[in-house]
Amino acid sequence: MKFIAIYVLFLASTGLAFAADIEGGKKLAAERNCASCHGPDYYTSILPTYPRLAGQHEDYLYYALRSYQVETNANYGRKNAVMGSQAKGLTDKQMRNLAAYLASLPGPLVVRK
Ligand code: HEC
Repeated sequence: MKFIAIYVLFLASTGLAFAADIEGGKKLAAERNCASCHGPDYYTSILPTYPRLAGQHEDYLYYALRSYQVETNANYGRKNAVMGSQAKGLTDKQMRNLAAYLASLPGPLVVRK
């Protein structure tokens, strides 16, 4: 019984360790001032060419940030002067947290949640 309890605790802690941190993403987005372009609600962006992020799929947001980092990769790189500099230097964990936070926000981009 004791071993089962320890095992369950172990599973719970590893699960938490790998889960994206929405609060961490929120904090980082505020520090980096992502809202200055994407809008305070991440939906009302300041220009039509600045994409809406609120409620977008988490995996898509993560993939997009990653793509800006590997901009010259012919297969999945995404070259954009503005976002290239924004994404530069973000760690994998930071990008996952940002994606989790932005995906958690209310927005009409997802059909069903
Ligand atoms: C100076 C303005 C500006 C700032 C600040 C900014 N962005 Fe962007 N962002 C843009 C523009 C412009 C695009 C569209 C680029 C393109 O055409 O690929 C974009 C695109 C994106 C995309 C891709 C969306 C999609 O639908 O493909 C993501 C994700 C994103 N930004 C996240 C962020 C995050 C997270 C931050 C803060 C760390 C941030 N942005 C800060 C202007 C900005």
